[in-house]
Amino acid sequence: MRVHDAEKTGNTLYADLVRGLVRRLYTTADQSVAHRWDHIERVLTNAQKIAPHFPDVDGELLTLAALLHDVTSPFNRKEEHVELSMQTAQKILNDIDYPPDRTKRVLAIMAEHSTERLQEGNLSSTEARILFDADKIDGIGPNGIARAFALFGQRGYPPPFAIAWYRKKIETSLSHMKTDPGRKMIVDRLPYVEDFLGRFEAENAGLPGNQKQDRP
Ligand SMILES: [Fe+2]
Ligand SMILES: [Fe+2]
Repeated sequence: MRVHDAEKTGNTLYADLVRGLVRRLYTTADQSVAHRWDHIERVLTNAQKIAPHFPDVDGELLTLAALLHDVTSPFNRKEEHVELSMQTAQKILNDIDYPPDRTKRVLAIMAEHSTERLQEGNLSSTEARILFDADKIDGIGPNGIARAFALFGQRGYPPPFAIAWYRKKIETSLSHMKTDPGRKMIVDRLPYVEDFLGRFEAENAGLPGNQKQDRP
């Protein structure tokens, strides 16, 4: 993303500042283990692959929103994490004297990243569409499966509960992707995930205690 920033803005100062400030915040004890720094690095990588398809993208805004999008995500308050992360982002951007008009735009991108606050149709900016897809892509694939187990384990639930929830998450992500390159990336990952889920569900079929639930 740094190369892209430099191309688009000629300035990586704010992105580097925020990167240095937020990294430790992703390691607090109650932060969801599925939403720690490794997730942010992968979302940035995904965004970097999608962004070149959109000549109007503002690389600095996209990078800042990606760095901050899950910065306050307590494992037992997932529904609130967008609002909590936006509050933390506002404070951080204020502390580094980031221009208020651009802070608003970063927060607007963050506000639209999650299926917890799902919007039908198009999102309000190219950067929001890219971040939404980059985030969803990290939910589908080996890392996505591992993250589901990690989060449900942190909440005290065994793997079959994670997989029942994960099935619905895949459906939601697939039906709401916002960019063509993002949709292609997620579809390319599906066969691996479907194979894994099929094997997992076959081994657990009919066993007591493995009844499906939407979420704990
Ligand atoms: Fe999120
Ligand atoms: Fe995320």
